[in-house]
Amino acid sequence: MANFRIQNLSDYESSYRESIEQPESFWDGIAKNYQWQKPWDKTLEWNFETPDIKWFLNGKLNITENCLDRHLEQRGNKIALIWEANDPKEASLRFTYRELHQKVCRMANILKELGVKKGDRVCIYLPMIPELAFATLACARIGAVHSVVFAGFSVNALADRIQDSGCEVIITSDGLNRGAKQIPVKSVVDEAVALCPDVKKVLVVNRINWPVHMETGRDYWYHEMLTHVGDTCHAQTMDSEDNLFILYTSGSTGKPKGVVHTCGGYMVYAGYSFQNVFQYNESDVYWCTADIGWVTGHTYILYGPLLQGATSVMFEGVPTFPDPGRFWQVIDKHSVNIFYTAPTAIRSLMASGVDHVLAYSLHSLKALGSVGEPINEEAWHWYHTHIGKGRCPLVDTWWQTETGGIMISGLAGISELKPAHAGQPLPGIQPILVDSEGKEIEGEGVEGYLCVKFPWPSMIRTTFGDHERCRINYFATYKNLYFTGDGARREANNMYRIIGRVDDVINVSGHRFGTAEIENAINQNKKVIESAVVGYPHDIKGQGIYAYIILAEGTSQDNHSRDEIIETVVEHIGRIAKPDKIQFVSGLPKTRSGKIMRRILRKIAEGDISALGDTSTLLDPLVVDEIAGGRL
Ligand code: WTA
Repeated sequence: MANFRIQNLSDYESSYRESIEQPESFWDGIAKNYQWQKPWDKTLEWNFETPDIKWFLNGKLNITENCLDRHLEQRGNKIALIWEANDPKEASLRFTYRELHQKVCRMANILKELGVKKGDRVCIYLPMIPELAFATLACARIGAVHSVVFAGFSVNALADRIQDSGCEVIITSDGLNRGAKQIPVKSVVDEAVALCPDVKKVLVVNRINWPVHMETGRDYWYHEMLTHVGDTCHAQTMDSEDNLFILYTSGSTGKPKGVVHTCGGYMVYAGYSFQNVFQYNESDVYWCTADIGWVTGHTYILYGPLLQGATSVMFEGVPTFPDPGRFWQVIDKHSVNIFYTAPTAIRSLMASGVDHVLAYSLHSLKALGSVGEPINEEAWHWYHTHIGKGRCPLVDTWWQTETGGIMISGLAGISELKPAHAGQPLPGIQPILVDSEGKEIEGEGVEGYLCVKFPWPSMIRTTFGDHERCRINYFATYKNLYFTGDGARREANNMYRIIGRVDDVINVSGHRFGTAEIENAINQNKKVIESAVVGYPHDIKGQGIYAYIILAEGTSQDNHSRDEIIETVVEHIGRIAKPDKIQFVSGLPKTRSGKIMRRILRKIAEGDISALGDTSTLLDPLVVDEIAGGRL
């Protein structure tokens, strides 16, 4: 039977083989490494048509018992979480497993007092402060389903998410620190709640002493409620397939959808993938720079590391405050051994020059990771050379909100490194490349649409409140396959290179947006008649947002209109979705049936106007010349 820990290449190879030949007994063996209140009686039932996926059927567990209680005897005094503040002058905080257990239990007791019960959805709209970790785990403790919303999202984006998932309780803070700025948070929640009549309670953490309005009977201070709750809380018994969390992510059509993950399979895969990709050792300090508002923070700041009894760093700040050496200073300060960040951060720090790096020793580092978007070779080499000093393995981890955990990646120190290549699939993962008809493309040196042909424990189960959408988005494109939305290339030795999205999703600084989602926001501006959004290559962000906009007659095509439109996007989605370029046009290239030909707009935005391809099916081919001529 395969070992939980992969220690060398032949372990990987034999685990992979076993996981393909006998997936059920393989995952049985892995799952036995966790603490179950009652063992499962069947490992897997699946059907990719409906879709209907169940792992570890009738198993009973609580993921927080595995993240916390299970470690108390052996690691009670080990540091579970190191919290580093935005401002380097503010003291960092350390929580042992015992302390974290108490904090989570107390938060859980507060939630119970606010009326939260098993199965209820709780929205968490918090900056990267320790209470975000406590709140997330507290929900899991009592069987409530957390829906963490990144604290940079706007009122409307927050309200949409609260309503879609039917949250009646929100956990938030007065405000947040971001570099040199302080930003109000509770006021955003107040405005969102005004749009969500079902919200009953709001729990508020005081982070920056920002003056806030507290609505009697609805709003409660966390620090006040803390004074009278106990520090133990029974861990709710959960079925393997009970919902653990909802996390919203953008797709190619419509509003963001709530990806649902369930308790058992997610737990099994989060711990297993964390352990093996990063090759975590008991005394290592591990730091993932993501925000817990995204899936990377869920799986690889909280659940994965805590399941493995690791010490995980949580950082409130930004890479450039007070200067672009901040990441490297934090690595030295906490003797970080394993560092996991996004290519966009690397590219922006690269642009600030290597002097900021040379000021620090970085000698504690043993392994590096990358996530969120393809890492270009230049950034890969800079990261490997200047941060890893050429001695640390760099794992490029490909996965998605929907996959719950890392799918294709090197294993630190074990796998062959190849710049810009994610690498081989983890045990249990069966990728397949297909052509546009869904026919398998076999062999090496081939490219195609990346799909997965067999279930893995942490895969998406549904999209909240709309199962049909889950089916159409992921399981209807190609029969009996999970479709990722990415294109990929396979080289010798089952090595994959991810090319990028092949749908109308753009990846801006590692954040996913649907082009339709941004267009909808832009169209809310009264001056806008119609818009079309595409991605284009951006040196730092990976992809930038390029918007072609038709303005109402009589509106001036000036920077004032541009600013107003940007403000509308900020209001409807958030600062992270601001268009980088806005080109005013008199028309859009449409086919006779009225469909916008995005391929042409993409080419123009990329500056590739010599190869616009066939424009003969266009209603008005002249519009293409005008747009190409006015390109920004
Ligand atoms: C992209 C983030 C290339 C990909 C964990 C995917 C990557 C989308 C990589 C998911 C990588 C993520 N190399 N592309 N290592 N990691 N992506 O849901 O297009 O925010 O489909 O999950 O990011 O983004 P999500």
